[in-house]
Amino acid sequence: MPQLTPLQLSHDEMKALGTQALDLVIHHFETNREASVAVTLQRAQTESMLRTPLPEQATPVGELVDILARDVFPNSLKSDHPRFYSFVPSPTNFVSVIGDLLISGHNLFAGHWMAASAAGQIEVNVIDWLNELVGFEPRAAGGILVSGGSMANLSAIATARESRLGGPNEKAIVYCSDQTHSSMAKGLRILGFRSEQKRTIATDDGFRLSIPALEAAIAADRAAGLLPFCVVANGGTTNTGAVDPLGALADVCAREKLWLHVDGAYGAAAVITERGKKALAGMERADSITLDPHKWLFQPYELGCLLVRDSTTLQKAFRVEDEDHADYLEDVTRWVKNDVNFYECGVQLTRSFKALKLWLSMRAFGLGEFRRAIEIGFEMADHAERTLRGAGTWDIVTPSQMGVVTFRWRDAAKTDAEIDAITRATVDLMRNDGYALVMSTSLRGRAVLRLCPINPSTNGDEIEETIRRLGVFSADVGARV
Ligand SMILES: Cc1ncc(COP(=O)(O)O)c(C=O)c1O
Repeated sequence: MPQLTPLQLSHDEMKALGTQALDLVIHHFETNREASVAVTLQRAQTESMLRTPLPEQATPVGELVDILARDVFPNSLKSDHPRFYSFVPSPTNFVSVIGDLLISGHNLFAGHWMAASAAGQIEVNVIDWLNELVGFEPRAAGGILVSGGSMANLSAIATARESRLGGPNEKAIVYCSDQTHSSMAKGLRILGFRSEQKRTIATDDGFRLSIPALEAAIAADRAAGLLPFCVVANGGTTNTGAVDPLGALADVCAREKLWLHVDGAYGAAAVITERGKKALAGMERADSITLDPHKWLFQPYELGCLLVRDSTTLQKAFRVEDEDHADYLEDVTRWVKNDVNFYECGVQLTRSFKALKLWLSMRAFGLGEFRRAIEIGFEMADHAERTLRGAGTWDIVTPSQMGVVTFRWRDAAKTDAEIDAITRATVDLMRNDGYALVMSTSLRGRAVLRLCPINPSTNGDEIEETIRRLGVFSADVGARV
């Protein structure tokens, strides 16, 4: 038996730990429905449960996994729970979970072709699949897998700016809607845009970016000597699932020579279904698209993606040349001149073989299974809308679209402010109740309840029971407000 080097486990220890961990994950997959959807502890509790001194001494790892199983995993928001209807749920699949194990188990460096040519081929292949799905020409288009939508959106703006303006410019103006995800504002700030360089364009009754308002803003900016260069459209807003008029926006951008970025972090994956394709018509005319596989393509975190119509635009934005280039990477670029170096297509140099889990699951299940899983989300949101209408005590604020429905308690005797208060109190009561996680958002300054039932394991009975409880809580609060 060879001596173990530091940080090594014996064969039997690895097997035992692997089995313990795998059993835990399988148990999670098999019993998730019975577990509580959302537990948030107070800081004082977590401090007393989990705070330990810097560990100079070893602890048997099996005991540590037991601590995780007992104290950590149950005490969280379970975004993969069938009755998690808030934010953007993140149901996963077991094949991709094993993909994550294989990724970290082999720890391939997927930053450049020399290090991971075969893995790089898989990433190129996955990017080509996604480009084909969104309607980009796979060979001409490109993309990069990143940590999530925030990084994809930031990278999109960096790419657009370099491509259209050749770099930072004080006069550069970006157009977003009042429903654009906050990651865009964050990305712009990080990239050095001042808040005056971002125009927030009003949306119409359906929370879609208003074309006349956009055109007026562009004209005013041009008249003021500013440099409009990019429009950010939504391919499914987080609030309501609204899709901006992508075809009309593409026309405006073509006419005005602006970069069109579609933030489809949440919604773009739905293009694989008939309904999603219809809703997202025009997306294929964008210059770049954010599509997060860790949202509606059922991948474990962290897997976002930026797709670009023209693959060379990424290199233009992210390749570091001339006196700044990396001396220590000279051999890498000398050996693999014409192949994809992912570090030249995005922010990260060292990056994991992120493509593996998406590749593995897409091949293992086939696209049809993903299509069906997304269709269930559409159907569940439709079912929620029907159930809400049937109850007769709710106003539908935005109908089921891209798997999201928003609604508000109806009581003609109450003021808007009182209904706001009922809405927030209902969220609190529902959270204490623990059956499902439903949260609120604000639309035009008014509180609304929001359901995003895109977990393919959810079912109509659970949706109905959730809405029944929401009604009981709202009526109860309403009687007291
Ligand atoms: C439309 C949209 N864009 C961007 C993001 C940010 O993505 P991430 O949380 O993966 O950074 C989200 C997150 O929900 C989103 O819904």
